[in-house]
Amino acid sequence: MKKNAGVMGFPVSHSLSPRLHGYWIEKYGLQARYLAREVKPENLEEELRSLPARCLEDKEIFRGTNLTIPLKETALDLVDDLEEAAKAIGAVNTVVLDDQNKLSGRNTDWIGFMDSLSDHLDIAEFKGKTALVLGAGGAARAIVYACLQMGFEKVMVTNRTRARALELCLDMGAGCDVLDWKDREAVLKETDLLVNTTSLGMTGQPPLEMSIEGLKEGAVVTDIVYVPLMTELLIEAKEKGYRTVDGLGMLLHQAKAGFEAWFGVKPEVDEGLRQFVLQGLNKK
Ligand code: ATR
Repeated sequence: MKKNAGVMGFPVSHSLSPRLHGYWIEKYGLQARYLAREVKPENLEEELRSLPARCLEDKEIFRGTNLTIPLKETALDLVDDLEEAAKAIGAVNTVVLDDQNKLSGRNTDWIGFMDSLSDHLDIAEFKGKTALVLGAGGAARAIVYACLQMGFEKVMVTNRTRARALELCLDMGAGCDVLDWKDREAVLKETDLLVNTTSLGMTGQPPLEMSIEGLKEGAVVTDIVYVPLMTELLIEAKEKGYRTVDGLGMLLHQAKAGFEAWFGVKPEVDEGLRQFVLQGLNKK
């Protein structure tokens, strides 16, 4: 029977996930469909519980779904089983159904970030090192979690709204320190990994307004913004000779675990996929 998965959000039309999963479904010749479904938070539970039967009417098996804004937090209280990472990060971006239609809530964003770095370097180099994370929203939570998993000794979190950074650090526990937003440049000399998780620098948003003058030698600079792909931050970092990792890799790599759980094939993030998703970005 054909397998059915997808992405739910409100709105959902901006999502690149159908394009991304569609590429893999075709590449691996699977009997599967991946659909965008517009779902409001108040309807999420009903949608998740009723889809298995509705899919069966179409002779399809509902295997699960990705979740995007604003459903990632809504799902925390709805699933039957919440994986440790999703609980710690406070967001579910992937739901997987088992044979009894029990819902497992997972978070793969942190894996996406880690694997995206791994495309460019050996993440073992970060053991005992220091990271500086700009921002304290949902993406920052997944990235701080990933940094702690990678063995960073210290993760400094700085955010315009300090209280949010404080809450994030309290949730994540040891190894995570709050830094005032105005001091973000002062700590660059001790920073081995700099990550922008804010929306600053994205097309249509204000600039980041941060110079990386004095950043520690050999540091890595990453941005989760991928429109544009080369943000001002990454351009400056490259010009100054630092290693850079753009934001598209995290989006591509976070999708792998869900695809494998739903469809039984471990997909590969390759240059073909990257180009195909980039073309989709340019059309939006
Ligand atoms: P996401 O879930 O994608 O991370 P979010 O929760 O809206 O999105 O977080 C956006 C991040 O960008 C936040 O850290 C936000 O800072 P605040 O918590 O102070 O809102 C940051 N951000 C957005 N606009 C900003 C601006 N003009 N200056 C500084 N930070 C900004």
